[in-house]
Amino acid sequence: MAAQAADIEVLHWWTSGGEAKALGELIKKLESGGHRWRDFPVLGGGGDNAAILLKTRVVSGYPPTAAQIKGPEIQQWAKENYLATVTEAAKAQDWDSSLPKVVAAAMKYQGRYVAAPVNVHRVNWMWINTAALKKAGVEPPTSWDDLFKVADALQKAGIIPIAHGGQPWQDFTVFESIVLGQGGAGFYNKVFVELDAASIQSPTMAKALETFRKTRQYMDKGTPNREWNAATAMVIKGQAAIQFMGDWAKGEFSRAGKVPGQDYLCLPAPGTEKSYSYNIDSFAFFRQRQDDAKKAQADLAAALMSPEFQETFNLAKGSIPVRTNANMSKFDACAQRSASDFKSTAEAGTLVPSIAHHMAAPEVVFSGMQNAVSAFFNEGASISETQARLVAAAKAAEVRE
Ligand code: GAL
Repeated sequence: MAAQAADIEVLHWWTSGGEAKALGELIKKLESGGHRWRDFPVLGGGGDNAAILLKTRVVSGYPPTAAQIKGPEIQQWAKENYLATVTEAAKAQDWDSSLPKVVAAAMKYQGRYVAAPVNVHRVNWMWINTAALKKAGVEPPTSWDDLFKVADALQKAGIIPIAHGGQPWQDFTVFESIVLGQGGAGFYNKVFVELDAASIQSPTMAKALETFRKTRQYMDKGTPNREWNAATAMVIKGQAAIQFMGDWAKGEFSRAGKVPGQDYLCLPAPGTEKSYSYNIDSFAFFRQRQDDAKKAQADLAAALMSPEFQETFNLAKGSIPVRTNANMSKFDACAQRSASDFKSTAEAGTLVPSIAHHMAAPEVVFSGMQNAVSAFFNEGASISETQARLVAAAKAAEVRE
């Protein structure tokens, strides 16, 4: 007899137009399999609000079926013994040979899968409204110095040069692209992966902070607290010319019917053409008591990793499938480039985990660094003071272990 339908409750922060469309693909798939979807959306891109709510729910004894959790934080939840394993689904679909090795390792705790990945987002993108650049008579910037020249011309033409949402995670997203663009992948890894104090205190880092602060002059007054998708909408409409954001922004362009290479450009942020900062969305599974809930959870795991789902989902989301050897024929030029750059940067050793999107460091380090970067950008902390705060955040990793 077929298993009883059970509720599947998934905590996520996919509430923008493009994100909701992508998530809709998952809901459709599960509902057609007889399950009931119980939505648990938490407003706020980047997931900071979602993380707080998740803790409250789990600690009070009512974990959802699964929640959007990424990178090293998966290990943390598993260590605290909250996660369930989805070994059967993983075996049946042979996850081990369908995923890049590092990704599989991040999804496992003590050798068993406790989470499933759905995509690869590239973070170091620059989104450009083609008509806006044309109006100002300029070409896309190729270095950060060049960006400021382009931005001056845009300002003269009455166009907001940079669309930005002043929230800590968005500030951090822009900053990581600057560090990657000016310091290169090796330096980026020293700072955000090895958490090396000397690199954090180096002149290269000071310069990245200075560049970051300068971008502020080219953002509009509505910046504080704006959601990322509202900033993307400004670029879509041509009110603003450029946004530095991961390729979930492409989900918004696609939903607005815009065509890459024509209406807009997706280019690596200045100086990052040969590197790739990755952000992998994944869902971690929470321990369930009832058998029907466990069955529903296994079905969710299988759905997330199915090739068809990864195709339809990522076509809407702006990302690429995380499964290796995925068929990319239906994807647009931005996604094709992302897929080939993902491979070539992995070979060249310039594929780096996104610090702003929880891929690089434990949560204590991540949040300390994010606060320092945001305070620098918004509250006028000095460069040396910020470097000291970043070092202190990096040291939190040692204290924790
Ligand atoms: C990221 C997440 C993406 C995207 C973005 C904005 O952290 O990985 O999938 O949704 O936040 O909400």
